[in-house]
Amino acid sequence: MRIVTTAAAMQRLALRWRRAGTRVGFVPTMGYLHGGHLSLVHRARRLVGKRGIVVASIYVNPTQFAPTEDLSAYPRDLERDKALCRKAGVDVLFLPSDAEMYPGRDTGGYSTYVVEERLSQGMEGGSRPTHFRGVTTVVAKLFNLVLPDVAVFGAKDWQQAAVIRRMTRDLNFPLRVVVAPTRREKDGLAMSSRNKYLSAEERAQATILFRALKLAKEVVAASRTPNYADVLKKELAALIATQPAARLDYVEFFDPETLQPAIAVTRGTHLALAVFIGRTRLIDNAELK
Ligand code: PAF
Repeated sequence: MRIVTTAAAMQRLALRWRRAGTRVGFVPTMGYLHGGHLSLVHRARRLVGKRGIVVASIYVNPTQFAPTEDLSAYPRDLERDKALCRKAGVDVLFLPSDAEMYPGRDTGGYSTYVVEERLSQGMEGGSRPTHFRGVTTVVAKLFNLVLPDVAVFGAKDWQQAAVIRRMTRDLNFPLRVVVAPTRREKDGLAMSSRNKYLSAEERAQATILFRALKLAKEVVAASRTPNYADVLKKELAALIATQPAARLDYVEFFDPETLQPAIAVTRGTHLALAVFIGRTRLIDNAELK
């Protein structure tokens, strides 16, 4: 596995692959890898085949964190991540520094950002207003450096995937965005680097997110007529409130393509929620089919 740390070297390599007609699959991450990330790497490999190149990046992107969020505390373990990438069959691991990604940002020398104006507005965008501007900016930059044919994102960040798909289309990036299913622990908790923050007691209570998704699915499956989103939201909020460490940030029913909030919930409506478990903010989502 080759390690690349500069933007110039990454782009030079990518241009060489492009000239040679080599297919490139890309998995951008913020590191502290888990089974969910590795499933994205395997998916990228299947998409580009044995003769293709799989690139993963690890970069904890400062522009997608608000000043009050967990940028400095974000879990990091580069040596472990490198070993996992090697084992999963990553060909090139891109590890840029802040100076490579945003040269001169602190002194006004960096001033260009990418903003998606529609799908990024509610849910995560409502709770974290500067988040998606950071995500779209860094992903656009990574696309320009890695020049992938296909990029793989996880469905746990459903809104992120929708925003990136829209950005890719709107800005004519010549690549395909693939969204791979959420990987879960045995008790249903979605795999996330942030699960590391949870104490044993919080970890047990964190399954409430999955249980809320399950309850919504059961209600929708048992109903002959559409359910009112507001009524269901109250039911889910009450379930979440049964866990002392849990504090609901948002629960939203929406159309999975447009992300427009749904008033009536039917099969095919999507549900997303964000819940603080202690100080850790977790997200999850599901299609209610
Ligand atoms: O999902 C993530 O890990 C990040 O938001 C991403 C896509 C790597 C951009 O920093």
